[in-house]
Amino acid sequence: MAHERSIYRCQQCGFASPKPGTCPDCKRMTGELMALVEERAAPTPGRRRTGLSHSRPRPLGDITMEHTDRLRTGIGELDRVLGGGVVPGSLVLIGGDPGIGKSTLLIQAARALATAAPPVLYVSAEESAAQVKLRADRLGITSDGLLLWTETDLGAVEAELDTVKPQILVIDSIQTVFLPALESAPGSVAQVRECGGRLMTIAKGRGIATFLVGHVTKEGALAGPRVLEHLVDTVLYFEGEQHHAYRVLRAVKNRFGSTNEIGVFQMAERGLLEVKNPSGFFLAERPRDVPGSVIVAGLEGTRPLLLELQALVAPASFGTPRRTVLGADYNRVCLLLAVLEKRAGVPLASQDVFVNVAGGGRVTEPAADLAVLVAAASSYMDRPVRGEVVVLGEVGLTGEVRAVTGLEARLREAAQLGFTQAVVPKSNLLEAPRLPVEVHGVATVHDALDALLS
Ligand code: TYD
Ligand code: MG
Repeated sequence: MAHERSIYRCQQCGFASPKPGTCPDCKRMTGELMALVEERAAPTPGRRRTGLSHSRPRPLGDITMEHTDRLRTGIGELDRVLGGGVVPGSLVLIGGDPGIGKSTLLIQAARALATAAPPVLYVSAEESAAQVKLRADRLGITSDGLLLWTETDLGAVEAELDTVKPQILVIDSIQTVFLPALESAPGSVAQVRECGGRLMTIAKGRGIATFLVGHVTKEGALAGPRVLEHLVDTVLYFEGEQHHAYRVLRAVKNRFGSTNEIGVFQMAERGLLEVKNPSGFFLAERPRDVPGSVIVAGLEGTRPLLLELQALVAPASFGTPRRTVLGADYNRVCLLLAVLEKRAGVPLASQDVFVNVAGGGRVTEPAADLAVLVAAASSYMDRPVRGEVVVLGEVGLTGEVRAVTGLEARLREAAQLGFTQAVVPKSNLLEAPRLPVEVHGVATVHDALDALLS
């Protein structure tokens, strides 16, 4: 029997050391002193073979593919993000902030799955059976194929699988289940990793499609989800602002589909509703012909999404002017404001600038640069961007407007929502075929301001 040795692990980043103390990585990165927590290695008798099957190397040509039928969850947005439905035997991690709606999404998905592939075993390790029942009642879910179990011991769950024989397993959440053989607490890196590994073996070995819920901790340090990302087949993140109704489900890894997909939902009185027309949703309350509001035709993966960017520029009352940014990258906005000042001569040194994406949306791509800049200029000059126009373009430090990807898809979406004009990078027009709206190509920030605000 091998000598059992302790290791000491940081609960924030997973750093492991043979000696106790504080985590040098966290100290370097965040300045925080995180204590290393003692862990015993799991007793693993005869851990020799770890592969999934006892197979031999074979020529690629000899390998035949079994046709796997995907199971539909009945939620179109979720099915699309998964790559067309749930693959039997796959392990899917759904991460997100507490309270964002992970349990709601899974219980709603369980509704259709319990009919298509019964039974579905929903293991709730953080809410009581009554709480889950209350939610299910509220959502009108009354399925015999859905089995609910409040259990935190993963060993007990595994033991029960032979009797229950579920086709779908939901573990809510991976941070609250544990293996008693391990001494560390539920939610610790060691527990999460071991439990994840065990569930992987269960999913692959028995062909049970397994969903894991993982909470993102508030520092964004993903003690739970992050340590599992390499292990699972699919990683979906559920994002959104707590106080806004809209939620985006994003695939960040998918062995069975594209990672370019997003699903858009709205949290309503009776659970999550699919938002089939997200652009319309974000533009619903758009003000017309007011200074500081610009529509950008964004692209989320392969999906076009129109968003309204708002800027408010007002004289700073004293001292250093403020820059407040919601829904966009702070440093990028500061950079764009500097370009606006230097290349277009808009004096912002004594102005407070506030930038916001309306409706709690978020822009992540440089294609929104020009829209941010135009919104700020529009607010400063107190002159609106008139008409049904969308603005697109990445802005460089010399004030040049650079090409964006997916122009046609973006403009098609804009046309569908009633926009008739677009200001786009001139360089994009070289390759452009017939576009669905009237386009105006601009090469510099100066051109763009001339076109939109003069
Ligand atoms: P929940 O799925 O419990 O979040 P998570 O599992 O990610 O922690 O959702 C929690 C929030 O959703 C809660 O604040 C209430 C809200 N909610 C609704 O607004 N409508 C509903 O029908 C349901 C079920 C939840
Ligand atoms: Mg929950």
